[in-house]
Amino acid sequence: MAGDIPFIDLGAQRRRLRQGVEDAILQVVNHGAYVMGPEVAALEAELSAFCGAKHALSCANGTDALGLILMAKGVKPGDAILCPSFTFAATAEVVAWMGATPVFVDILEGTFNLDPASLDTAIATARRLRLNPVGLISVDLFGQPADYDAIEPICAREGLWLLSDAAQSFGATYKGRKVGTIGMATATSFFPAKPLGCYGDGGAVFTDDDELADVMRSLRVHGQGTDKYDNVRIGINGRLDTMQAAVLLEKLKIFPDEIAARDRIAKRYNELLRPMAIVPEVPPGLTSVWAQYTLRIRAFDRDAFQSDLKAAGIPTAVYYPKPLHRQTAYRTYPMAGNGLPVSDRLADEVISLPMHPYLTDEVQDRVVRAVRDALVRQRRVAAE
Ligand SMILES: Cc1ncc(COP(=O)(O)O)c(C=O)c1O
Repeated sequence: MAGDIPFIDLGAQRRRLRQGVEDAILQVVNHGAYVMGPEVAALEAELSAFCGAKHALSCANGTDALGLILMAKGVKPGDAILCPSFTFAATAEVVAWMGATPVFVDILEGTFNLDPASLDTAIATARRLRLNPVGLISVDLFGQPADYDAIEPICAREGLWLLSDAAQSFGATYKGRKVGTIGMATATSFFPAKPLGCYGDGGAVFTDDDELADVMRSLRVHGQGTDKYDNVRIGINGRLDTMQAAVLLEKLKIFPDEIAARDRIAKRYNELLRPMAIVPEVPPGLTSVWAQYTLRIRAFDRDAFQSDLKAAGIPTAVYYPKPLHRQTAYRTYPMAGNGLPVSDRLADEVISLPMHPYLTDEVQDRVVRAVRDALVRQRRVAAE
């Protein structure tokens, strides 16, 4: 049996980019502008050209990206911000930072993304609790954009701004619109495991709104004004390191090619696995950047399935075993109606397989064989 395969093969990308990234890093080491150096402005111009957003501001991580937008909007106690529960904690964490209240919304089982009907219920729940619903943070989970055709009219009707948490979906498209241009603003993450990742923490915000961009630029550097020693608002130290910008500039060159590879690999997984599991289907008109490739397997012993795959040298991951409304720090916050049954059920059904642009057919076949063997064994055990 061949050795363990990686869940995400950053080493393969590193081999492809080695010289370019090393030269770029060395250039920063030598020019010495480690904070807000020329690579930061160059990256922001490239990011803006890539997705078409008027303003792209780099920042320290994806959580700060979300936080900067909420700070710029002046989110405050008494405000309710709607967001899904089936997401990474940062989506709701930044709402709590502001003293505001996250109100959790359920998801659609076909896409893992926000359920527009549950959004309506959550808005009513917020109002019943005498909170003021001001905005929605939608999440493009696993790399696939949420159902914006359904979400945007609800936001318009209810007077909510729309912030897109695209930490997992930068590079994806929604019916011809690029992620980064949807809603009032978009936040993304360049955490190393993300489709576009750097060599540490990094993030960015995108908006077409000049005023919002100006305020976020100030907030990112302690709320500085035109005179940098006259701080005009309370901000954060939220800058992206120049070295990370240099790495991202190199990675951005091959990003379109990597997106195409991810898509080819995900489609091949779908063809091979569709007969045995519920595979992630992308609705017509959308593209995903496949931050995760996530199966749903009904009524199964996930722990046994994971250990079978582990024994075959195949790593898997569960995103997310507990939706936020079940987590210690978040369980006291309100949720849509009486509960979030789809989030609860999917937390028990999901399992993510190795996914990255350098997964070969041969390795993918090994993963598929191991999935099939584990499922056959489970069915046998269940029948006994
Ligand atoms: C949906 C979502 N939102 C926000 C974040 C936060 O990004 P970061 O880890 O860069 O702070 C992440 C990534 O970890 C994420 O997956």
